[in-house]
Amino acid sequence: MTMLSRRMFLSGLSTVGLATLSPVQSRASDSEKALRATMSKAQLAPEGYPDTSVWAFSETGAATIPGPEIRLKAGETLTRTLLNELPQPTAVHWHGIRIDNAMDGAAPLTQAPVPTGETFDYEFVCPDPGTYWYHSHQRGREQVARGLAGPLIVEEREPWLGLPGAASRELTLVLDDWLLNPDGSILEGRWDDLHAAAHAGRMGNTVTVNGKSYPDIALRPGERVRLRVINTATDRIMPISFPELSPMLIALDGHPVVPRPVEKVFLAPAQRADIVVDAPTTSPKRTALVLDVGRGNQVEIASFDVNGAAMQPAAEPVRPLPKWNTLPTPDLSSAQFEPLLMEGGAMRGMVETTYNGESMDFRELTSHGMAWAFNGVAHQMGEPMFTASFGRTVQMKLSNRTAFAHGIHVHGHHFTVLSRNSVPDPHNDVHDTVLVGPDETVEIAFVADNRGKWMIHCHMLSHQASGMMGWFQVT
Ligand code: C2O
Ligand code: CU
Repeated sequence: MTMLSRRMFLSGLSTVGLATLSPVQSRASDSEKALRATMSKAQLAPEGYPDTSVWAFSETGAATIPGPEIRLKAGETLTRTLLNELPQPTAVHWHGIRIDNAMDGAAPLTQAPVPTGETFDYEFVCPDPGTYWYHSHQRGREQVARGLAGPLIVEEREPWLGLPGAASRELTLVLDDWLLNPDGSILEGRWDDLHAAAHAGRMGNTVTVNGKSYPDIALRPGERVRLRVINTATDRIMPISFPELSPMLIALDGHPVVPRPVEKVFLAPAQRADIVVDAPTTSPKRTALVLDVGRGNQVEIASFDVNGAAMQPAAEPVRPLPKWNTLPTPDLSSAQFEPLLMEGGAMRGMVETTYNGESMDFRELTSHGMAWAFNGVAHQMGEPMFTASFGRTVQMKLSNRTAFAHGIHVHGHHFTVLSRNSVPDPHNDVHDTVLVGPDETVEIAFVADNRGKWMIHCHMLSHQASGMMGWFQVT
């Protein structure tokens, strides 16, 4: 960034009414790039409806929904200077990256939130290829719901596209969920709605794909495409399907899986799936990306238009992505066992919970804006839930004793799913976020190979804000 463009960013700050802005000390070199968190507008509702005022990210020019796609190769260093032009402090979390702890963006645990008008320099290596995303990690239930999220794509060290059995191109599909008023504006003033938080969370009424309602996605007849699907919704689980496109799952949360056919992919908030589709050979033809919105209702959220010059359909079975070779294998023979008991919420509640060091009943807990607990403690940010020494395998039993599903996210690590309800998992997929259904128990394991303070929380951000968070330390 040159000084000139830096000043141009600052001049834009007057729009948020900063009376006493002191000059930002620029440490940005030419190789550093800015990432502005700012206010913008986006046409989220279908054309013809009013646009929506959002909070969003920008690298150059106007901020967009989703934020700009950041791309680099595995092993490379990502450098961005966050410039906060929002009326609130903020911080950026690089979801799923096995990152240097100081760069994790988990405010206030790993950094102080960045005040309005100030900057923070992020610089870290992205060790593993895959589909990731970045989002605000400060008042996430509001800031992510207002639009502060974007895709982060870490490319394979050796190109996979174009090889026999691989796709010939790729597309990023960012799915999001918005709670909009009829005039297009985001429903304000209910960010701390405890009723929603004690149920499935703040559900929207408008689902977008790449920031648009029901966009057209062009496919050529016979072509094989890699879709990088990211669920950036604050609370909505996205069960999606791809009728007539022969979808094959090739990666989950960035990590490769042995390619397998999938009828429906259940993406918790924050999860990603890489899916290879084969377009039909006959054209013109229209099919859709279908979202299951519950109670048996299937909604088309994007249209796939198969048209144009036909391509030779791939003859080979879908080619697996290259293995990471960067993730240590858990050693289950000497694991440290840690429980994660989820309790609370509507329909169940809790007998007794600790909050801020005080023991209280559920009614009193809700008077503090809390509705959930991990291991009997709501919002345990004062001290770690546990400590693991560097290199130790941690085996966690995630027990959901609530009436709702939760997407449990571990920062700084990826874990192997061992079992569900004591039944060994047939795939042993590696995730950074796992959906745990009501009354379900999921066992996971990972090697604590990243020093620092790492959050564990539900990625339904309404649940996180109302108690479902804690952290552990790797020493
Ligand atoms: Cu995607 Cu703690 O976050
Ligand atoms: Cu939850």
